[in-house]
Amino acid sequence: MKDIIKLLEEKRKKAQQGGGQKRIDAQHGKGKLTARERIDLLLDKDSFEEWDMFVEHRSTDFGMSKNKVPGDGVVTGHGTINGRQVFVFSQDFTVFGGSLSEAHANKIVKIMKKAMQVGAPVIGLNDSGGARIQEGVDSLAAYAKVFEQNVLASGVIPQISVIMGPCAGGAVYSPAMTDFIFMVNKTSYMFVTGPDVVKTVTHESVTHEELGGASTHTTKSSVADGSFKNDIVALKEIRRLFDFIPLSFREKPPISKTSDRPNRSEKSLNTIVPKNPNKPYDMKEVINKIVDNEDFFEIQENYAKNIITGFARMDGYPVGIVANQPLVLAGCLDIDSSRKAARFVRFCDCFNIPIITFVDVPGFLPGTKQEYGGIIKHGSKLLFAYTEATVPKITIITRKAYGGAYDVMSSKHLRGDVNYAWPTAEIAVMGPKGAVEIIFRDDLKDKKKISERTDEYREKFANPFIAGSRGFIDDVIRPAGTRARICKALKMLKNKFLKNPPKKHNNIPL
Ligand code: HXC
Repeated sequence: MKDIIKLLEEKRKKAQQGGGQKRIDAQHGKGKLTARERIDLLLDKDSFEEWDMFVEHRSTDFGMSKNKVPGDGVVTGHGTINGRQVFVFSQDFTVFGGSLSEAHANKIVKIMKKAMQVGAPVIGLNDSGGARIQEGVDSLAAYAKVFEQNVLASGVIPQISVIMGPCAGGAVYSPAMTDFIFMVNKTSYMFVTGPDVVKTVTHESVTHEELGGASTHTTKSSVADGSFKNDIVALKEIRRLFDFIPLSFREKPPISKTSDRPNRSEKSLNTIVPKNPNKPYDMKEVINKIVDNEDFFEIQENYAKNIITGFARMDGYPVGIVANQPLVLAGCLDIDSSRKAARFVRFCDCFNIPIITFVDVPGFLPGTKQEYGGIIKHGSKLLFAYTEATVPKITIITRKAYGGAYDVMSSKHLRGDVNYAWPTAEIAVMGPKGAVEIIFRDDLKDKKKISERTDEYREKFANPFIAGSRGFIDDVIRPAGTRARICKALKMLKNKFLKNPPKKHNNIPL
């Protein structure tokens, strides 16, 4: 018996060494942690239960029968984050460059299937040279098995990808089908074809970082939802994000204790909207002053900054926030912001997270760039996402809510549950100046008349009371009391039940 235990310990030790000390040192030399070090930081202390530590590949070509490492380049299992169940896979770059073999993929698929059965999220820590070259088409088939599970798990359990090294070729498509992708600055990259192929095919010279680094994917492509300065910060922030989301679609989000009073009044909000309607103000300040303890986890912070998306809590209850940002493009909706917010709204709706929308939107951004780019189709994504969402939806109009954008931004007409407006709200088909220039086109030269008509229009329409008189907004509220009113509304909506008509699935305009 003693010998068997000794053998077990030896085998464990070998597996834990991965590709050996030299390769571990090389990994550290690049500023990266190893697969196991990452799991230790991600999960609660001593909570990790490893599976399939002794799995090996079964390929024989290119001398592979003599080249086996227990675990085969990926560490898999389950554990907890602040006491809540999670499944995790962490690719080990020290073993065959973390490349994906049939055995490696089977390990990932195994935990994904179990995660779906028990209702727990999957976090993937990606650091891989892609398909295991020695296995040829078997490794492509294996990738497809992972893709299949990503799709089946979508909407059942949250899936989070952290890119912590290379991620190239078709391998990028597994993370792409998960709910969130985060990257690590300077040490991770994602692309379908690398710089060499790009050079050959398009004659463009581009570095790995320019083509698929964190900065590219968080600011230009929007493939990634955020990036962090190193592995340690990334894993710490993933723990923070995890605390906002439920374990599966069958659960509600986790309630936390908070020291922030639900009825806290915030007087500075009474004067935050400038008198001049063309002057911007920072909607992030509004959000931070309203949510619990200014704790806001922003998603896609550096992309389409004219809309803000992220998670926060109200009286300890997680919520998704969507807000127009008057500081950027005057808060207009355009292609990028519509896509960004639509995806976020759909995540919240999948996982029972109430949505709070702050509105200050002068309309859709005009111009050929937008029309040729398909703003009609992309804008409708957000319209579609808000309409189909059955989670509690609370809307606060702080200033402008013009035209189609008024309808889109979680209006009463799209099944908004509680719609409030600040006294500074202007709910109309368009701004006073634009409206008067159209209605009184023939009098444009008569400055005095135009000015009078603009004042008249502003007084008549650029306020919240017409919408209030129709019941399109439920109340005009004092800005200082917004937090209290949202907390009360959330409490009232706690057991909201709304179901969409039965169907196979909808056909969102992609
Ligand atoms: C097998 C691989 C590997 C792979 C790396 N290694 N990638 N082994 N299959 N795909 C091994 C290397 O042989 C090396 O082994 C070790 O991992 C570390 O690799 P290095 O090259 O020394 O590391 P580095 O210089 O950091 O470069 C990392 C890299 C590079 C950029 C990822 O290794 C690389 O370009 N690899 C090939 C990438 C690739 O073309 N993959 C296929 C993509 S197509 P030793 O023993 O020396 O430590 C794809 C299709 C998926 O993935 C399709 C899904 C539908």
